[in-house]
Amino acid sequence: MSPASTQDRFDPLSADFAADPYAVYANLRREVEPVYHSGLGAHLLSRYADVDAVARNPSMVRTREAFLEPEELAGERAAREAAMPNHFRYVQFSLLDSDGAVHRRLRKLLLGQFARHAVKRFTPVIETHLSGLLNGCIERGEFDFVADLAAHVPGWIIGHVLGVPPADRPQLKAWSENIVQFFNAGRTAEHAALAEANTAEFADYLKRLVRSREQRQEDDLLSLLIAAQQAGQLDEAELISTCMLILMAGHGSTIDALGTGLYALLRHPQELDRLRREPALMSTAVQEMFRFEAPLPYFHRYAAEPVEIGGIAYDRGTKLGLLYGAANRDPEAFADPQRLRIDRLPNRHLAFGRGAHLCLGNNLSRLDMEIFFALLLSRTEDIRCLEMEPVYKSGITERGLVGLRIAVRPR
Ligand code: HEM
Repeated sequence: MSPASTQDRFDPLSADFAADPYAVYANLRREVEPVYHSGLGAHLLSRYADVDAVARNPSMVRTREAFLEPEELAGERAAREAAMPNHFRYVQFSLLDSDGAVHRRLRKLLLGQFARHAVKRFTPVIETHLSGLLNGCIERGEFDFVADLAAHVPGWIIGHVLGVPPADRPQLKAWSENIVQFFNAGRTAEHAALAEANTAEFADYLKRLVRSREQRQEDDLLSLLIAAQQAGQLDEAELISTCMLILMAGHGSTIDALGTGLYALLRHPQELDRLRREPALMSTAVQEMFRFEAPLPYFHRYAAEPVEIGGIAYDRGTKLGLLYGAANRDPEAFADPQRLRIDRLPNRHLAFGRGAHLCLGNNLSRLDMEIFFALLLSRTEDIRCLEMEPVYKSGITERGLVGLRIAVRPR
């Protein structure tokens, strides 16, 4: 992200934006045409209908490589590879950052593993893991929900899904957090160096794990990917980058969803009471938590062909910003959008995106959240927020709380 120009309508790194991005989104939605933001280099789409249409449109792609001249592309790739060889190979290339046939081939390998019925089989292990985490915190009575609890949820579960042995799973949290430093809006040389070193370490670890597992198939994603590699359906770099993407896409986003989900319930006490009384509403409640605070509120597309949005024509190569977080609060799409309503139906929110890149982990993260909140509410009689104004992370690409100190009374 380049620095925002003084003419930009808002600064995504400001404390004001972090405190209330929804006021900015409401202004953007009211504009006649999508606002161009120089810092993001994109025309920002904020209305549900526009975001939904572009995300579904197969001519809207993730990578700009298709628009570069061959020499320009080769030069750009060589420079990126020389600066950060491991990060370039395993993180900057991924299923998420590919389009067309490559994207379809890689995505197809994983689809079955992440279907709703397939992830359901993880229910007992998720319950056992979350139960153990919750017991420790509930005994303490007062704790930071984000750092002491939520932060320990996804790494372990994704490690299980991938096939990482339990003893190695705590390390996944650090790898994931350090590798994504590269995507920080305020990235420094130290962030880049940390990301590169951690990518190299994680890649070495995965290669060793693959070697140890080549002769021993198990019921996990790694076995599935190893079999696909042996059948010539993907190469080693793609296997490593897919494992890394699964961890990084699901780690921070799940922590943020847990934190903002609980805080939304605490700010809507009648909804929280109702959920305690009617646990059958858990599934719609979790979907509403995702609508209310989209953990990954901003992605982009490039127009591979000229496109018209809301009567405005955009050239081939134009970068369009998809504000999933703004679309989810659009009054044209959701009645009373600023309120959390745990029984909201239908709820066709865009927190998991839409179209070709629809989140592969959406069923898993919904299951994690459903199990987590069911356990939390059944084990506690009361949950109190100990902070007047919890602080949100800055930036437009993530939406999550820095911390959330709470006190719980056990049941
Ligand atoms: C917890 C909350 C999560 C949220 C809010 C979320 C959100 C998203 C969104 C919005 C996209 C689409 C990006 C785009 O439009 O360009 C996406 C893609 C993706 N997500 Fe998630 N995600 C979450 C959790 C997970 C988990 C747990 C996993 C894996 C275990 C995962 C794996 C992926 C993958 C692999 C993609 C790329 C799909 C593709 O490009 O075809 N996500 N996610």
